[in-house]
Amino acid sequence: MSKTFYIETFGCQMNAHDSEKVIGTLERRGYARVQDEVDAGLILYNTCSIRDKAEQKVFHRLNEYKKMQGEGKRFAVIGCVAQQEGEKIFERAPYVSLVAGSASYRNLPEMLTRLEAGETRITGLDDRQTDETFETEFTARSNPHRGYITIIEGCDKFCAYCVVPYTRGKERSRTAASVLVEARRMADEGFTEIQFLGQNVNSYRDPSGRMSFAELLVAVGEISGVRRVRFTTSHPRDFTKDIVDAIDATPTLCDHVHLPVQSGSSAVLKAMAREYTRDWYLERMSWIKAAKRDISITSDMIVGFPGETDADFEETITLLNVVKYDAVFAFKFSPRPNTPAVTMADSIPDEVKTERLRILMDRQREIQREHYGRHLGQVQECMVESYNTVRRQVVGRSSQNKTVNFTADLDNLPPIGGYVPVRITQTLPNCLVGEALAAGPNVSDAMFFVPVVRKPQFVVLN
Ligand code: 5AD
Ligand code: SF4
Repeated sequence: MSKTFYIETFGCQMNAHDSEKVIGTLERRGYARVQDEVDAGLILYNTCSIRDKAEQKVFHRLNEYKKMQGEGKRFAVIGCVAQQEGEKIFERAPYVSLVAGSASYRNLPEMLTRLEAGETRITGLDDRQTDETFETEFTARSNPHRGYITIIEGCDKFCAYCVVPYTRGKERSRTAASVLVEARRMADEGFTEIQFLGQNVNSYRDPSGRMSFAELLVAVGEISGVRRVRFTTSHPRDFTKDIVDAIDATPTLCDHVHLPVQSGSSAVLKAMAREYTRDWYLERMSWIKAAKRDISITSDMIVGFPGETDADFEETITLLNVVKYDAVFAFKFSPRPNTPAVTMADSIPDEVKTERLRILMDRQREIQREHYGRHLGQVQECMVESYNTVRRQVVGRSSQNKTVNFTADLDNLPPIGGYVPVRITQTLPNCLVGEALAAGPNVSDAMFFVPVVRKPQFVVLN
């Protein structure tokens, strides 16, 4: 097998970041990444199984790989479908050599040694026993300005609809000390934005007992060179008021909280085993809304959970009206293998789910159309992400995690990864429009920031 690899990644940010760590591990072993599977000795497929017929899609894709068999290529299926389907993958696709779920990636070097020795049918499957997290000496981060740090892996919540507790193992946190070392190293390399990741990021418990989640946020926010800290995804059950206080007190913590509610009906929440009620959730909303900063709030919602009545669904709509989210990601309930919801009675017909989804998204669009109006005339600091050459605009992101399309001096464009003050001149339902401010008496120089990117350092072990 030639020491070249090709990797394809599906799913959430956790998966994207796992791939960055897998790539780091492979590169550290002397593998070179190629952009075309045809050129690769090892093809990896990092899979997601959160919704829809993910398993079928994986097998379909593996069938395409089959055509490349016999060219000295090896195939690896990793991630959530790998964990879910396990050895069944070898039965359906015998040319696959490695099947590994994310809770076994700490053993990746050892699995690679076996793969290189020609072994087949290698598995790394989790039995919800491991206490270890996947930490790497080198992580191949794809963006030099903004980087992820997984602070907690796995999930112990077991919501009735969700595969994650089965695919990502039990909840395990890294020590605050190791998170801080990684964050400091990233700041030294020139990263200005750090995003904490965890399936339930705020369920974080420092194994050394040194710091709470809110204290860790503040500690990272105080590292010199760090300008923005984000965290996702929070669970309402573990959402404590000190998180809001930390955001209020620490300017580098972004003014955004993603707190998925899933449903506005306490009866549905109970059936989902979410362990909170509508009122409990609304109390957390009131803490966020009482903050001194304007903290944007976003959510995930599921429509058509088994047994969801019209009245239950109406409660989800009234919740939208009360909270006024800045964005909502809504999904039709999708039955997942092994989860309790698969066998629940009163499943909802697909047409009803589709109709509820449409009503929800229409209502939310109206709310955003109105609610984004509060930003008109404000000056917001934006991180430059890309340039839209057709519209001759710069695409940036606000601290609230909104996309801001703005005009700037074309002869002196702000660099990607830089921060620029932008006056908001128009608000749309899904983004803001504005103009970059030139330095002047009313704009502090501190608002302009040109990134410095240093090369990531390999730690070479002998
Ligand atoms: N069906 C529909 N949506 C789901 N989600 C998770 N599992 C399912 C499922 N079985 C949604 C939830 C979660 C988001 C990441 O995906 O809203 O917050
Ligand atoms: Fe998909 Fe969930 Fe796995 Fe992320 S954790 S890759 S969303 S199944």
